[in-house]
Amino acid sequence: MKDEEVIQAARGNMGPLCKSCPVCNGKACGNTMPGPGAKGSGLGAIRNYEAWQKLYVNMDTLTENVEADTTCTLFGKTFRLPVFAGPVGHVDLHYGDKYDDVSYNDILIPACKEAGIAAFTGDGMKPLTMEAATQAIAENDGIGIPTIKPWGKETFLEKFALVQKSHAFAVAMDVDASGLPFLKGIVPPAGRKTEAELKEIISLADVPFIVKGIMTVKGAIKARNAGAAAIVVSNHGGRVLDGVPASATVLPEIVEAVGKDMKIFVDGGIRSGTDIFKALALGADAVLIARPFVNRIYGAQEEGVQVYVDRLQSELKDTMEMCGAKDLASITSDMIRKSTD
Ligand SMILES: Cc1cc2nc3c(=O)[nH]c(=O)nc-3n(C[C@H](O)[C@H](O)[C@H](O)COP(=O)(O)O)c2cc1C
Repeated sequence: MKDEEVIQAARGNMGPLCKSCPVCNGKACGNTMPGPGAKGSGLGAIRNYEAWQKLYVNMDTLTENVEADTTCTLFGKTFRLPVFAGPVGHVDLHYGDKYDDVSYNDILIPACKEAGIAAFTGDGMKPLTMEAATQAIAENDGIGIPTIKPWGKETFLEKFALVQKSHAFAVAMDVDASGLPFLKGIVPPAGRKTEAELKEIISLADVPFIVKGIMTVKGAIKARNAGAAAIVVSNHGGRVLDGVPASATVLPEIVEAVGKDMKIFVDGGIRSGTDIFKALALGADAVLIARPFVNRIYGAQEEGVQVYVDRLQSELKDTMEMCGAKDLASITSDMIRKSTD
């Protein structure tokens, strides 16, 4: 199957809230939540996507004629390209009941491993979500990153025990999930954390800890001081707060402040290998792509994931070769420019 055919096939398999658009740019879904859209005005996801389109790549073919190497090593694991499938929770509610979180992750985790990348998994109110995700990661040699909601210490410890059993090579926490309605007012309290509270949680984890949902230099410094091995510069696809800037806009200042101390991932509207190249040129070590993987699985399960990852790699490789980068380390900020037209 071609990637376009996978996206088209997904249309027949999804509920009414996602239109499985040729390019997932946030426009058709707007503010549909439940659904794959963004909070409030619904502009957050659109802004994320458009910020990458406002960057252009600088072509230079007077370079050594060698094949570009897209491999990336993070936390002791080597991946085919610097891309992770982002966590998406409650897929049945947002995309239709062909899959639920258990059946979705049961396809996503091995499919990503097979394609040479790894998947982050989501979390929710139902204990089964984390139990099943960590079980699937265990069955796939620990190649997956469970993303735990910002629960209090007790619940974190219960969930982290499952992570340990799975031998996942890293763990994440989406600290920005405090903007989701279902985390408000629950007992024990979950949501926002001080640097000291985050530090205590990170100290309980014996694998690299990734703090997802950082949008400011202030936040990045607190995550670093709390002991995070990495952050994901992310506004949760515009789903937790309206009026936020695009992740691409804040990425350079965050890289400048903490890029030497920790790994920096970024997500939000990254859709192509060229977008991945731009993110690395702005200083990211790797990217997460979330919504498009849902369409690939609803469209063609494992094959959908393989076809998409193949496409991303071929686009990234082509951009690297055309801009004079022989490997990821040679992608530099002078290889992109802001559009002025
Ligand atoms: C329906 C839906 C559910 C999501 N669930 C989670 C989640 O459980 N945990 C999480 O960290 N992020 C979650 N996200 C946010 C994504 O991981 C990602 O940060 C965001 O969608 C931006 O990336 P994208 O533009 O590639 O989709 C969810 C996003 C969507 C659309």
